[in-house]
This record gives sequence, structure tokens and C-alpha cells, in this order.
Amino acid sequence: MESTEILQEIAAQVKICEKCQLSFSRKNAVPGTGPADTDVLLIGEGPGFYENEQGLPFVGSSGKFLDELLNKAGLDREKVFITNVVKCRPPGNRDPQPEELAACEDYLDRQIAAINPRVIVTLGRFSMAKFMSNVKISEIHGQPRWVKGRYIVPMYHPAAALHQPKLRSVVESDFAKLPEWLEKAKNAQPEEEVIPEETNDSSDSDDNAVQMSLF
Ligand code: URA
Ligand code: SF4
Repeated sequence: MESTEILQEIAAQVKICEKCQLSFSRKNAVPGTGPADTDVLLIGEGPGFYENEQGLPFVGSSGKFLDELLNKAGLDREKVFITNVVKCRPPGNRDPQPEELAACEDYLDRQIAAINPRVIVTLGRFSMAKFMSNVKISEIHGQPRWVKGRYIVPMYHPAAALHQPKLRSVVESDFAKLPEWLEKAKNAQPEEEVIPEETNDSSDSDDNAVQMSLF
């Protein structure tokens, strides 16, 4: 099957999914949008109020800010795939719970496999935690590293910047470096990519961090 068709099939399954309790309170599940043949996947946390109303990702105030950030990086949302770690809105925008993240993970994994993006931008700590363990977003935002052959770029969530004005310039300067990282990721040799995945051993993850900074 073509990757576009696979994404359509995943979206159809998400729309009617009842694998976790978020299915009871959602209005519309939000599978994600974008082309299958993109180099860049952005992963947020979960749908908010407007996303739940419309069934589309990042259409509220965070989405407006995300569009600005993408535009400043020379990208627009039609060129990237945008989704979330949970596809249904957590009531009152609470944090997604571990069992909801676990129930929904297979959809995201299949989207990643179908898109096969070179670069994944994680927005906020829940999507970052999918790729890196034992890290703090305040310490590693804006410091990409290779995980399983993909360049993972941890960013603060745009909503965090909207709620904490001090973070706004931080998010803006991290996003401003995105074109440079895309270029680097596209030109990287395969052997550069083969860097051990983050482990729970802290000395090991420090080594990884040092290797990463060489890029
Ligand atoms: N915040 C998210 O994490 N995802 C969205 O889709 C919208 C807001
Ligand atoms: Fe299904 Fe994910 Fe929605 Fe839960 S959040 S009902 S697992 S699509």
C-alpha cells in the first residue's frame, strides 16, 4: 500500500477508536494532517478545545503560534505532517495519562513508519518522552539528537510559550535553527545516524549527549 493510503487507513481507525477512555468525552478524534512524503513530522501532546471541535491538529491559539514559528523557519504547515501523542482531547486539557498514551501509541508508530521522516520535532515533554528518557525539556530543548536513524528535535510546546512569556523568545530561537538542522539531517551519512538509543543508564546518556553535540 502507498504511504498516503496507509495514513488514510490509520485516520479512519482513529476516528472510530474506542481503545481508551478519551473516546467517551471526545467530539472528534484528531488523527493528524499533512503529506505522506514529508521529511518533517511534528508531534504535539493532544487535541485541545478547537481541535476537538474540528477534528484537526493545532487550529487554536497554539496552532496560530505554531504556524508563525514554522513560517519563520521557512516551512508551512502544508509541507509537514502534524499530529499528537494522543489523538483525542483529554478533558479540560489535562495531561494525557500513561494508559491513554499506551493505548494510542500504535497509531503514532504506524504514522512514523508510513511517513518515515528524517526529522521529528517533539512539542512538549510528552512527545519528547517517547524518544528520550531521563531528560528535562528545560535542559535539552533545541538540542537535536539521533534516535533510531531519525533526528529528534525537542522543542517546548507552543502553548508553554504562550503561557510563560519568558519562554517565547526561547521557542522562537529554537525554531529559527530548524532549517539548519533539517539540512544537517538530510545530508548526514548513514553511519553518523547509528548512535545508540538513549538508555536508562545516566553515564551512557551523557556520552550520547556529548556525541550529539558534535553534529
Ligand atoms: N496542543 C497540542 O498539543 N496539540 C494540538 O493539536 C493542539 C494544541
Ligand atoms: Fe483511541 Fe487514541 Fe482516542 Fe484513546 S486517544 S480513543 S487510543 S484514538
